[in-house]
Amino acid sequence: MPKLKIEGGNILTGDINISGSKNSAVALLPAVLLCKSTATIYKVPKIRDIEYLLKILEILNCKYEIKEDFITVDTTKLKNKEIPEELSEQMRASYYFMGTLLARFKRVSISFPGGCNIGARPIDLHIKGFEALGATVKIIKNKHIIEAKELKGARIYLDFASVGATINIMLAATHAKGQTIIENAAREPEIVNVASFLISMGSKITGAGTSTIIIEGTKELDYGITEVFPDRIEAATYVILGALTGKDLHIKGIIKDHINAVLIKLKDAGVPLEVKNDEIIVSKCKKVLPTKIFTQVYPGFPTDAQQPFTVLLTQAEGVSTITENIYESRFVSAGLLNVMGADTTSTGNVLRIKGKTKLKGASLYTPDLRGGAALVLAGLIAEGTTILDNISLILRGYEDIVDKLQKVGAKIELIE
Ligand code: UD1
Repeated sequence: MPKLKIEGGNILTGDINISGSKNSAVALLPAVLLCKSTATIYKVPKIRDIEYLLKILEILNCKYEIKEDFITVDTTKLKNKEIPEELSEQMRASYYFMGTLLARFKRVSISFPGGCNIGARPIDLHIKGFEALGATVKIIKNKHIIEAKELKGARIYLDFASVGATINIMLAATHAKGQTIIENAAREPEIVNVASFLISMGSKITGAGTSTIIIEGTKELDYGITEVFPDRIEAATYVILGALTGKDLHIKGIIKDHINAVLIKLKDAGVPLEVKNDEIIVSKCKKVLPTKIFTQVYPGFPTDAQQPFTVLLTQAEGVSTITENIYESRFVSAGLLNVMGADTTSTGNVLRIKGKTKLKGASLYTPDLRGGAALVLAGLIAEGTTILDNISLILRGYEDIVDKLQKVGAKIELIE
């Protein structure tokens, strides 16, 4: 397994182009199964999670072709097969095959999805949704067997506005008889991206992006086409990097509204930012102000950006706090920042960050995807060398991270 070697202290300048969103793409690929013959998706990021999803599509007898900036999937010979655990456990998003295979075949057998270890992460809301549509769910050891004689539209209230449950229920409901209404639906951009893909293949969906989504079941869907939205978390990560060590660093190809909450908090922290259409120009913040952050569902501050933001707050003069309202175990990377010289303490779901602290290079492991990205940022401002192990977790979600950073002047390389 390669490691990352990072020499801190360089000022970064130039352009970073944002890739397609991981969290959209990992739902869009399973969604292609709803098409009878072909689907095309533009700007699919080249990341590990996508490689695993493509392997699953092959197992399900689909063919795919990767062209310059799009993937075409041929689903004509789709077969319902059990998805091997060694693939489904590689990422959380494998659970979207539950929704699509249930819609297509009324039966799916899949092991519990994997993903980053950042909390309990149950999928009870997904299951409740499938049951409301008429499915029965058996759980044998780690395997979920979900079956239905017929799927019927239903009114489903989500106790929590879960991204995964909203998308999964929307996928399953596309072929249900009659109308499905999801109430207290999540409003993240990923949901809009998936809904617009489903609409392109003939699905009747209204309200995606609001708290109430209405899906009218349709018998057949085909020829889906869409473009993956820009990755709002990748964009947030690199804007924060610019605030740490940029000089007119241009973060390009963003949708500004998707990262509004992060930009507002960066401004609160005193970061000089210029927003121009689809790009943000950011430079090192000379005096970072202590800031309070509360993670929330969209359009609130995203939990996925909390870990990179912590690195910026280690440079603030005074005490900052991050209240994590989505996942209970998302402060592991903060503990690793302490090894580099940061001063953070967590009590329950609140992280207290005392700054300003000088960070020093260290040998560390990657705790999870976004935590790994945070440690990369820390390494880039630290004195000396940082070695980061287990980086496959970072490669799961950040396309060409080493290349992108080298091009703007970072001293970072993959080593064996
Ligand atoms: C998605 C993202 C992840 C992001 C998260 C929150 C993907 C592949 N992953 O994860 O990067 O951090 O949204 O923005 O898109 N919950 C339940 N029961 C359920 C489902 C969720 O209790 O059935 C809880 C979770 O444990 C968590 C909260 O709801 O505390 C949010 O989860 P959810 O929005 O579903 O996140 P994911 O879809 O897992």
